[in-house]
Amino acid sequence: MKVAKAVLFMRKNRPVARMLFGAVPGMSLGLRVFLILVLGSGVLSAVAFGAAAPKTKTADTQAAASSEFVGSDTCATCHDEVAKKFATNPHTKMAEMHGAKGVTCENCHGAGKAHVDGGGDTSKIFNPAKHSTKEVDAKCLGCHAVAHANFERSPHAKANVGCISCHSVHAGKESDKLLKTSQPGLCYSCHADQKAQFNMPIHHRVNEGLIKCTDCHDTHGTFNLVNLRNTPDQNAICTKCHTDVRGPFTFEHAPVRAEGCTTCHTPHGTQNPRLLNMPSIATLCNQCHSPVSAGGVHGLDAGSTTVTPCVTCHTKVHGSNASQAFIR
Ligand code: HEC
Ligand code: HEC
Ligand code: HEC
Ligand code: HEC
Ligand code: HEC
Ligand code: HEC
Ligand code: HEC
Ligand code: HEC
Ligand code: HEC
Ligand code: HEC
Repeated sequence: MKVAKAVLFMRKNRPVARMLFGAVPGMSLGLRVFLILVLGSGVLSAVAFGAAAPKTKTADTQAAASSEFVGSDTCATCHDEVAKKFATNPHTKMAEMHGAKGVTCENCHGAGKAHVDGGGDTSKIFNPAKHSTKEVDAKCLGCHAVAHANFERSPHAKANVGCISCHSVHAGKESDKLLKTSQPGLCYSCHADQKAQFNMPIHHRVNEGLIKCTDCHDTHGTFNLVNLRNTPDQNAICTKCHTDVRGPFTFEHAPVRAEGCTTCHTPHGTQNPRLLNMPSIATLCNQCHSPVSAGGVHGLDAGSTTVTPCVTCHTKVHGSNASQAFIR
């Protein structure tokens, strides 16, 4: 997480941090501002001191805006249930930033003075549940844009599925990335077709918890088709687990390399053994090799549609280091 990295950066670079924000005798305000602007063009400004923290004022600057902000302790006086639970929320780590002067509640809910002065006037506080998806997403992305830079172009964002469609800041569990409910149930609540696919007799064991939807998809968007994880080619999604078919091989089977695993396999679930796209292996192969030349080894119908499945002899169908015909 980039925010954490920024904190780490600050820790590792105490002298720089002190120079910019602390008391270094003899450094003019002008020079500090200049340095902040220069250094700030990196992670620092993007995350820690820019978008990340428009309302997370440091001690030095808090005075100016403090009239608007009341601090988490004040919120806790009326919302003690919420505040108590929030102590274990990953967002509480924000409070530890900026010399323990972070303003956690108001980072998401906006300045709270008017709300407090109004005795809890609900019209004077930002309640994400009552705002548009885009507005809420913008708030969250204010801090999470670096890690989730592709969100706005994702099929989810385009379909108006936003951060709090999947995450619950107050009711989610930290161990589960603050999700409303765990995968795959969360996904099935909207993706009924995929639920049916993973109920097929042959399936990747997602329901059994062996692998997750997000091993293959990044729900926050990628440059790839159907939110597939950002990998150089589609096979990499599969071969990160199936290392034995990764290759490279002395003799490559062209479609494995050129067209990818899904030429022959279905990723979710099917009736067919080995997650193949077709019930008969011979039919699958003969889409491209049809008809395998009669005579020779394929004589007596050996390699035809019924008698002997092609992979009985062509055992190394993903590629081989020993046989051009993938027979060993
Ligand atoms: C003086 C008591 C009091 C304080 C202090 C207070 N609140 Fe509230 N808050 C209320 C009351 C009363 C309500 C409305 C009843 C309810 O939903 O619990 C409310 C409602 C809310 C809501 C829901 C608004 C809605 O649209 O339903 C949010 C969000 C909220 N408060 C956040 C905060 C935050 C953040 C702080 C600190 C900056 C804070 N409150 C401080 C009393 C308070
Ligand atoms: C990371 C953003 C974030 C922070 C920080 C945060 N909240 Fe919230 N809060 C939300 C969201 C989002 C909702 C809307 C309901 C939901 O999705 O959980 C919400 C809803 C609420 C509500 C309305 C409760 C309800 O059930 O409708 C209250 C009250 C509230 N927050 C108080 C607080 C207090 C007090 C703090 C600090 C201890 C705080 N929040 C910190 C994001 C945040
Ligand atoms: C002020 C900055 C800020 C805002 C605004 C903010 N977050 Fe966060 N968020 C953080 C930080 C900092 C962490 C802790 C990161 C860590 O542990 O590395 C975090 C953690 C999380 C996590 C858990 C990550 C994990 O690894 O467990 C989720 C999920 C999350 N935020 C979602 C949201 C959502 C949804 C919103 C909008 C309602 C939101 N955040 C608004 C800064 C913010
Ligand atoms: C369609 C559901 C969905 C939406 C929409 C969504 N998330 Fe997530 N998010 C997830 C899931 C699932 C994970 C857990 C990924 C994992 O365990 O590999 C996650 C993980 C995270 C994490 C933890 C770090 C990470 O990448 O694993 C953060 C932070 C986060 N989401 C923030 C956000 C923010 C901010 C938004 C809105 C801009 C958002 N999410 C929108 C489902 C969603
Ligand atoms: C709140 C409903 C909702 C939830 C929850 C949800 N999705 Fe989606 N998802 C959608 C919608 C709507 C679309 C865009 C329309 C479509 O293609 O179905 C979409 C699109 C997608 C796509 C791209 C499909 C395409 O054809 O481009 C993938 C992949 C996906 N979701 C995976 C997931 C995963 C994995 C999860 C669980 C971590 C999840 N979704 C949770 C509603 C949801
Ligand atoms: C083993 C990797 C993998 C896993 C696990 C996985 N997917 Fe997929 N998913 C894919 C691939 C690859 C495609 C593209 C299919 C194609 O090109 O034929 C895809 C396509 C999709 C689509 C687009 C529509 C479709 O069916 O083609 C959605 C929606 C989707 N997946 C949702 C999910 C959900 C929800 C889960 C978890 C319940 C999940 N996926 C688990 C690899 C995976
Ligand atoms: C996160 C790891 C992971 C990823 C990613 C993954 N797989 Fe798997 N795959 C497994 C595991 C584990 C099994 C064994 C499951 C079992 O025993 O039920 C498996 C089994 C298979 C099988 C054999 C099924 C059977 O019934 O014999 C095929 C074929 C397969 N995967 C293809 C793929 C393809 C194609 C992709 C990419 C779209 C892919 N896998 C991505 C983990 C993964
Ligand atoms: C030309 C079609 C084809 C392509 C492309 C293909 N496979 Fe296969 N794969 C098969 C066949 C056929 C089987 C069944 C072999 C058997 O039953 O002996 C199989 C079996 C498997 C198995 C089950 C275990 C094993 O080795 O027998 C896994 C895992 C697998 N493939 C993964 C992948 C992955 C990952 C990719 C992409 C890198 C891929 N396959 C590309 C045809 C293909
Ligand atoms: C999507 C098309 C496609 C599918 C499906 C396919 N192949 Fe191939 N196969 C090719 C191509 C293209 C070549 C390379 C032909 C060349 O170099 O002349 C090839 C090469 C081969 C060769 C080596 C041929 C030689 O002359 O050295 C064998 C053996 C082979 N495939 C067997 C199979 C088997 C068995 C299956 C089914 C499991 C299968 N193929 C499925 C396209 C496919
Ligand atoms: C009884 C074992 C056996 C079966 C079954 C078999 N093959 Fe073969 N195949 C071979 C042998 C042996 C070779 C020749 C290897 C050599 O020349 O070095 C071969 C060669 C090939 C070649 C390359 C030369 C050519 O004839 O085009 C292709 C393509 C091929 N087989 C595809 C298939 C397909 C597709 C199937 C299933 C429909 C299949 N084979 C079934 C043993 C078999």
